[in-house]
Amino acid sequence: MANLSITGETTLTGVFGWPVKHSLSPVFQNAAFHFYNLNWVYIPFEVKPEHLKVALDAIRIFSIKGVNITIPHKKEVVKHLDDMDEEVRILGVANTIVNENGLLKGYTTDGMGFLRSLKEDGNFSPKEKLVFLFGAGGSAFAIAGSLVRNDVSGILICNRTIEKAYSLKEHLKRNFRFENVEVIPFEKRNDNEIWKKVDLIVNTTSVGMKEEDIALIESKNLNEEVFVYDIVYNRETALISAAKQKNIRCLNGLSMLVFQGAVSFTLWTKMAAPVKEMKKALFEFIKKA
Ligand SMILES: NC(=O)c1ccc[n+]([C@@H]2O[C@H](COP(=O)([O-])OP(=O)(O)OC[C@H]3O[C@@H](n4cnc5c(N)ncnc54)[C@H](OP(=O)(O)O)[C@@H]3O)[C@@H](O)[C@H]2O)c1
Repeated sequence: MANLSITGETTLTGVFGWPVKHSLSPVFQNAAFHFYNLNWVYIPFEVKPEHLKVALDAIRIFSIKGVNITIPHKKEVVKHLDDMDEEVRILGVANTIVNENGLLKGYTTDGMGFLRSLKEDGNFSPKEKLVFLFGAGGSAFAIAGSLVRNDVSGILICNRTIEKAYSLKEHLKRNFRFENVEVIPFEKRNDNEIWKKVDLIVNTTSVGMKEEDIALIESKNLNEEVFVYDIVYNRETALISAAKQKNIRCLNGLSMLVFQGAVSFTLWTKMAAPVKEMKKALFEFIKKA
C-alpha cells in the first residue's frame, strides 16, 4: 500500500486501545493519508488502563495530532480532556482526540459515522421511521442520539439488561426531549406485533461476533420492507445472513467503521475524507487476511 517515508516532518496519529493489534483503523486511515499524499502516519498504540493518563500526556509531548480511543478507554479518557464537544459532554464517552496546540479536545464519531453510512451506503433516510434498537451500551447511546437528531418517528429499545434500556430511554427524553420511545422486554422481543410496523432494525449489541451466536430476532419477524443494520463488523452475523436470505436491504458494521473513521480523519486534517479509497483499502485487506 502506502509508500511510507517517515521524515522529521511526519505528522503522527493513531489509536489507543487494549488490546489493539486487531484494529482495522490503521489500514484505512493510512490509505486516506496516502491518497492525499500527506506525510502523516497512523499507528496502533497498546495502552494499558493504568497507563492511559501518561499516554495522553505523550500526545502533547510528542505533538501527536490526534488519536482514536477504543476499548477499554472510551469513558475513562473523558476525565483527562481539556475540552470536549457537546456530544461527548452528553454521552460521557469519546472515541477521537484532536490535539489543538497542546489542548486535547474530545469527540465521538460513532453516531455521525452510523448515520452517514446508513444514508450513503444504505441509501436509507431515517426521517419519520420507526426504529427497533437492540442494545443499550455505548454505541446504542450514540446511535440513538443520531437517529433522534434525524427525526425518526419512534424508537423501541430492547436490551438484555432492562435497566440499561430504561437509562437510554431517560437519556433520550432528558437530553433530546424525545418522547416517542418505548422499552421492549428482552424475553418478549419475538412475540410482538410491533414487527409489522418497524422500518429499521439496528443491532448495537455484540451478539453476532461469535460464530455460534444466533440472531436476536427470528427470521419470520423480518418484514420485507424493513432495513436491517448490524454494527458488528468482524464477521457476517446470523442477522445479516437471515436478511440476505429474505432479500431484505441490510448493512454490516464495516460501513460504519469506515465512516466513523472518516469523521476522525476530517477532524484531524480538516479535509474531506476519501471514503471510497478508505473502503477499498479495508476490503482488499480483509480479502487477503
Ligand atoms: N461498526 C462500528 O463502527 C462499531 C462501532 C462501535 C461498536 N461496534 C460494535 O458494537 C458492539 C457493541 O459495542 P459497544 O461499544 O456498544 O459495547 P458495550 O457498551 O459493551 O455494550 C454491549 C451491548 O451488547 C449487549 N450484549 C452483550 N452480550 C450480549 C448477549 N449475550 N446477549 C444479549 N445482549 C448482549 C449488552 O447488553 P447488557 O447491557 O445486557 O450487557 C449491551 O447492550 C461490539 O460488537 C462492537 O465491536 C461497532
